[in-house]
Amino acid sequence: MRLSVIGCGYLGAVHAAAMASIGHEVVGIDVDPHKIDALAHGRAPFFEPGLPEILAEGVASGRLTFTTDMAAAEGAKVHFVAVGTPQQERSHAADLTYVNAAIDALLPHLSPGDIVAGKSTVPVGTAASLTPRIESAGATLVWNPEFLREGWAVQDTIDPDRLVVGIPAGSDAADTLREVYHPAIAKSTPFIVTDLATAELVKVAANAFLATKISFINAMAEIAEVTGADVTQLAEAIGHDDRIGRKFLGAGIGFGGGCLPKDIRAFSARAEELGRGESVAFLREVDEINLRRRERAVQLVISGLGGSVYGKKVTVLGAAFKPHSDDIRDSPALDTAVRLHGLGAEVVVTDPEAIENARRIHPQLTYVDDRDTALAGAEAVLLVTEWDEYRRRMPASHVSTLTAGRVIVDGRNALDPAEWRGAGWAYFGMGRP
Ligand code: UGA
Repeated sequence: MRLSVIGCGYLGAVHAAAMASIGHEVVGIDVDPHKIDALAHGRAPFFEPGLPEILAEGVASGRLTFTTDMAAAEGAKVHFVAVGTPQQERSHAADLTYVNAAIDALLPHLSPGDIVAGKSTVPVGTAASLTPRIESAGATLVWNPEFLREGWAVQDTIDPDRLVVGIPAGSDAADTLREVYHPAIAKSTPFIVTDLATAELVKVAANAFLATKISFINAMAEIAEVTGADVTQLAEAIGHDDRIGRKFLGAGIGFGGGCLPKDIRAFSARAEELGRGESVAFLREVDEINLRRRERAVQLVISGLGGSVYGKKVTVLGAAFKPHSDDIRDSPALDTAVRLHGLGAEVVVTDPEAIENARRIHPQLTYVDDRDTALAGAEAVLLVTEWDEYRRRMPASHVSTLTAGRVIVDGRNALDPAEWRGAGWAYFGMGRP
């Protein structure tokens, strides 16, 4: 099928390449000529495992093209809208500028019978308000939220755990989406057809639930800290209850990224507009617990160094908001580095993929590519992104030969405290004795 994908960021670029890899003819459209130039040459403009391969293959096959020219959307049967919906600068609400601009630019190129499928995360009610514009072109608007995780985006797109499509009453657009996703559906992937509002809400509800789960375990970490309990064992124990489940019970410096933080804030803002602010008032607590954990990690470094970080060399392991990503949007890792720098520490940041992005936003920090060079002479070490090179391939005995001090703060509870203490380190975890 001929498809267009409007917006070629973390979501759209992967969607376009993944749809081409399952056999569709896809044009990816974006206003950023640099991004389009890279993609058109089969190069991924950001780090995402597996993307370079399907991108290169799609471009070489001729089934995958990229352009800045919206006219190229003409002739596609389904137009996926995958532009960003960041947090507004002066409020918690979602900024729909890019969604509106994409729809306006697409409208003149729509033909009767076309389907416009929104993938961006939007406040509930957005699809209903966009519908008259799409219908004026004889096209149908559906909402098809995306649940991919960065770092696993290719796999999550090609082989999702569920597909959700919100359609207007009386429409048969779901049949076309079934055709688009036929390989996944053939593997019995649940395909849920619902109305527009439910589809929009499914997405924000899923992210709100995940954020709540993380903040729940971080709240338990705060209690563990004043009682001498160990939150990692607690998570293990409650996780065996399959109604609870062990996933997303990783206590640490909390969630970040381009999705969970802004999505829970936008959800609260939308609920307020709907007169139902109290229904999701707990999301404000979820946000606050989350932000407190970053400060906790900083405090642990301060106390590990005897009360002050001023003039001390602190090596921060990780800048990305999570491993397998170069994304530093609302990164708790980078935030702790910036806070320590603000307190006068000599901060050295290392990360396998995210340094370039981090340097652009926080040029005041010192960045070192090589982990061991970054560790040399450190008086304290702070692990904030659990890349394998810090979690699995960084023996305490080896690090002891590089650093000046032996203080380690494990912001992701990724290390074995016994190993580090055994090597003579003062080990501080999050919610662990
Ligand atoms: C999240 C959702 O998981 C996806 O389903 C969704 O599609 C996506 O947002 C989106 O809306 O586009 P993502 O932002 O890629 O995906 O990252 P997650 O894997 O959810 O991790 C989010 C943050 O939570 C990271 O900072 C991670 O370090 C943190 N986290 C995760 C914890 O602190 N503890 C955990 O146990 C798990």
